[in-house]
Amino acid sequence: MKVLVIGSGAREHALCRSLSLDPDVTALHCAPGNAGIAEVAELHPVDALDGAAVAELAAGLGAELVVVGPEAPLVAGVADAVRAAGIPVFGPSGEAAQLEGSKAFAKDIMAAAGVPTARSYVCTTAEEVAEALDAFGAPYVVKDDGLAAGKGVVVTEDLDEAKAHAAGCDRVVIEEFLDGPEVSLFAITDGESVVPLQPAQDFKRALDGDEGPNTGGMGAYSPLPWADPKLVEEVLETVLRPTVNELRRRGTPFSGLLYAGLAITGRGVRVIEFNARFGDPETQVVLARLKTPLAGVLLAAANGTLADLAPLRWSEDAAVTVVVASHNYPGAPRTGDPITGLAEVAAEDAPHAYVLHAGTKQDGGAVVSAGGRVLSVTATGTDLTEARERAYRAVDRIRLDGSQHRTDIAAKAAREAQAAQAARA
Ligand code: AMP
Ligand code: GLY
Repeated sequence: MKVLVIGSGAREHALCRSLSLDPDVTALHCAPGNAGIAEVAELHPVDALDGAAVAELAAGLGAELVVVGPEAPLVAGVADAVRAAGIPVFGPSGEAAQLEGSKAFAKDIMAAAGVPTARSYVCTTAEEVAEALDAFGAPYVVKDDGLAAGKGVVVTEDLDEAKAHAAGCDRVVIEEFLDGPEVSLFAITDGESVVPLQPAQDFKRALDGDEGPNTGGMGAYSPLPWADPKLVEEVLETVLRPTVNELRRRGTPFSGLLYAGLAITGRGVRVIEFNARFGDPETQVVLARLKTPLAGVLLAAANGTLADLAPLRWSEDAAVTVVVASHNYPGAPRTGDPITGLAEVAAEDAPHAYVLHAGTKQDGGAVVSAGGRVLSVTATGTDLTEARERAYRAVDRIRLDGSQHRTDIAAKAAREAQAAQAARA
């Protein structure tokens, strides 16, 4: 199978890495890609938001499957253009991707489907904003209605900050604060059948101890030893299936990856947000544990034949990924700094630890930073403690001037899992 992946982040590197290990994949292309993806796939320049250009590239390459990674092309209808060209595509239509593209649309679908989520108001004026903030009280949750790369949400105790964020957006969703740990659960769907993946946890805040601003995600781990073993089944029945059914009922079936961002509150599971694509950095740890070859799974979703797919096989290993970000991320990140130590990780830490590239590019003989999140250093181990040690050992070999990373990814979960094991012994 000839596969073309659209995108250029660590998520796309993780997808390409898994696809490159799949014996059914005979040729792997990525557009536009990055310096790391170039090691496993042939890169092509393309404007990822231009559906006609992506479809033309796919046809020219004889691609038998196109995988659209990021949300912006999906919302722009890139999957529709590829599908219209008769090429199987993994990724929802522009209309179905509104589940991520508009928080207000997502709230409407959830209300219709009876999916548990935070109570909310959609506001367009300062008066509506003030009333909604007053109705819920602190902590205030203010979300830009449109796509904002994980930076459109402000959660704050400060009423003025909440109002200021709302004032900067055309339309905002203001909602009740949800307390409790967060879980990301992905499901692959063809619009009818729904196949959940393994849950992961993402670290959204920039700094250790969940301090600092929201980011696109600073690290992740899977599995979640602390989670109820029935969680996946519960979310499948109360969230994923009803949502997929509602979108099909409206004539806009969702095929591709449905990402449920969940809060496990004292009153039960609540949806924080939906995304219409693989999450980053959770994908890095989920795919590290998937044993079933990936291409056939994605193709079955693209072709509407997921019902025939054998159950997915998972490794018992744990996986941890740590994001290395540029100086100043998530503000105005500095780019163009050389990255060293990548060869040492490949020589000393593989195969248990490896570096997935996000914002990197080749500059002469050097690999340099080219974005806010630069690398996603991923490792597996028999448990979270071992996966963490391996990931951080690899992180320590990497040099990028001014870079930052969190030091506490999966730390609490690893500690708790060890304590639980000691108690059993
Ligand atoms: P979102 O882009 O909707 O995922 O929001 C980004 C982050 O803001 C989430 O991962 C949560 O950490 C936080 N957040 C969003 N909505 C809520 C909420 N209703 N209550 C508490 N935290 C929230
Ligand atoms: N990890 C959060 C996201 O992909 O949106």
